[in-house]
Amino acid sequence: MQQPKRYTVTSALPYANGPLHIGHLAGAYLSADAYVRFLRLSGKDVVYICGSDENGAAITIRAMKEGITPQQLVDRYHKMIEDAMQDMGISFDFYHRTSDPLHHETSQDFFQVLYDKGDFEEIETEQYFDEQAQLFLADRYIQGTCPKCGYEEAYGDQCEKCGSTLSPAELINPKSTLSGAAPVLRKTKHWYLPLDKHEEWLKKWITTGKLDSTKLHDPKDWKKHVIGQCKSWLDSGLQPRAITRDLDWGVDVPQHIEGAKGKKLYVWLDAPIGYISSTKAWAKESGKQWEEYWKDPESCLLHFIGKDNIVFHCLIFPAILKAYGGFVLPANVPANQFMNLEGRKVSTSKGWAVWIHEYLKDFPERQDELRYYCYKIMPEQRDSEFTWKGFQEANNNELVNNLGNFINRVLVLSSKYYGGLVPAFDESISINSPQESGMPSWHDSELLDLFDRLHEFRQNIKAFDFRSALTTLMEVSSVGNQILALNEPWKKQKEDPDTVKVVMNLCLQYVGALAISCRPFLPFTSTKIRTMLGQDPFTDQDEFVELMNNLSEGNHLLAPGHKLGKADHLFTRIGDEEIQAQIDKLHATDQTQEVESAEVKQEITYQDFEKLDLRTGVILEARKVPKADKLLELVIDLGEEKRTVVSGIAQSYKAEDIVGQEIVLVANLAPRKIRGVKSQGMILMAENGNGKLGFVSPPVGWGKGDKVR
Ligand code: MF3
Ligand code: ZN
Repeated sequence: MQQPKRYTVTSALPYANGPLHIGHLAGAYLSADAYVRFLRLSGKDVVYICGSDENGAAITIRAMKEGITPQQLVDRYHKMIEDAMQDMGISFDFYHRTSDPLHHETSQDFFQVLYDKGDFEEIETEQYFDEQAQLFLADRYIQGTCPKCGYEEAYGDQCEKCGSTLSPAELINPKSTLSGAAPVLRKTKHWYLPLDKHEEWLKKWITTGKLDSTKLHDPKDWKKHVIGQCKSWLDSGLQPRAITRDLDWGVDVPQHIEGAKGKKLYVWLDAPIGYISSTKAWAKESGKQWEEYWKDPESCLLHFIGKDNIVFHCLIFPAILKAYGGFVLPANVPANQFMNLEGRKVSTSKGWAVWIHEYLKDFPERQDELRYYCYKIMPEQRDSEFTWKGFQEANNNELVNNLGNFINRVLVLSSKYYGGLVPAFDESISINSPQESGMPSWHDSELLDLFDRLHEFRQNIKAFDFRSALTTLMEVSSVGNQILALNEPWKKQKEDPDTVKVVMNLCLQYVGALAISCRPFLPFTSTKIRTMLGQDPFTDQDEFVELMNNLSEGNHLLAPGHKLGKADHLFTRIGDEEIQAQIDKLHATDQTQEVESAEVKQEITYQDFEKLDLRTGVILEARKVPKADKLLELVIDLGEEKRTVVSGIAQSYKAEDIVGQEIVLVANLAPRKIRGVKSQGMILMAENGNGKLGFVSPPVGWGKGDKVR
């Protein structure tokens, strides 16, 4: 496809079984959002579609855990997810949900049409049935001992301990998670999609981009890991796949079909069809034709997803679309890998995540800061890792020091020198150029350099290389800073104001270009820059194209005499305490380790307790005990006297952070020599289930040496 007429862009429908977290954002939403924002700025016809995935076992299991109905569960999380997406600036044209009747109709129509064409096979198998609950059990509803590693709580589809893929029949001592009873095998009939019959064309389409003799896409444009995963499925041979389930939540198999009673569509059949229902709902609302976006061969369909969804979008859904007939196939599926968090996989059930709604409570108005860091470490080709320190550094070193600093300096100086008007300048005056380390150059050739960089930026985005695009964008800002540094307007303004006008005008053009080009990544910031420049709000129409045309023709984006707005700070530093608080919070909600239920010790008498002499005090000095990971040597001020205490808290606290900390000391503990140091007492620490320690401290402002009892 040379120039598509329009774009249909989808992001994976998130399960409505928990709040939105950074793993979601980095997987399927931020990349798509940057892409569609860029398309819109390039004047393209684009629809960006998503919605909540509200069917399937992920939903019913979570509802059971929370003690509510599936409907209540999806209502709660659909709203939370939709709000969080909006708050983060994910610019869907429509966010639908798969519990909507329109979706039920649409997916039933797919089933019916394929059924009528004879595209399914009906197969009878034996499946586990819970006699107490009177239900067939979805794989996830069965737990038992993993045959590979012996873990006793493995699920029917997977062991979360060793990661093996399982089938329920492999579990040793299977139990129903609904009733706890041992399930029995019972016969049941289901409809299967014979993927084996689609294997040949799928293989050709994936590896050559060709369908029949038409070339639809170039496999070189697809990510290697995406093609790799598809090939490995294809090479091991596709099998017929059940597309219905015995469930009581989800989309009914059309009930007039024989044997349909109690059968629901498998969630992975209906979910991708959700893209189509969502497009229909959008079209209805906005007076468009949904079919143009799905059926016209000149429409470019793109699925943004995480790597765990690759088979469904590259093999199964295309097979369904083709079997139905008349639909386009995806032109690309730019899947991301996973973004881990502080060394571990992000997990909703284990509480190891950064939840977007909580992030926004702790860092209000800092959406772009989170977006920026996620783009910077986006797991495009391999897994990556979110760390709070990394987030802090990206903010402080790049957003504050580079981008924010450049734009702020340009606006402050313009207001100071020219009363906030864009200065006219003499084109024949040269300035020191960053292009060749300070060699002289002219305004127009610097604008051409800007054009080249933005051209590269555009190529990066087109190739779904968002990390590089972001780097290129920040280079533009660095060059801007270099122009200032090499020409030092603040020094030259007195004796050479004419040169300063060239410099400042050029820098203002840079700021104008940054406002537009940062929009795909930092939409909130782009709007703020626009206001600071005194320009009209964004319309998202053609602005990037116009920018490039202007630059290539040597036109200025901001004309001399244009009135600028007020300078403001775009970004501010994030301090160590704020970051530490996030790290602490993450560990506090971590449910990975079994929390030791600290059993209460044997009873003691009051006289026993009275033997303790507990005193308030303050840490005066602290240092690490050499060659001991856990130990700090502390000097405690008890008012009347000072004590040296060796304390095993070095894994929870750094020496330099705790001087001045108020503590409670067991003051009459017999002295002990620890690592050659005489320790005279012990400070009280609280310990949580993960072994993390926290000071037990007296009320604020308490004295030193007071009794605690
Ligand atoms: N809900 C699925 C997940 O989170 C993704 C569904 S994508 C769609 O893994 F294709 F089904 F829409
Ligand atoms: Zn296992």
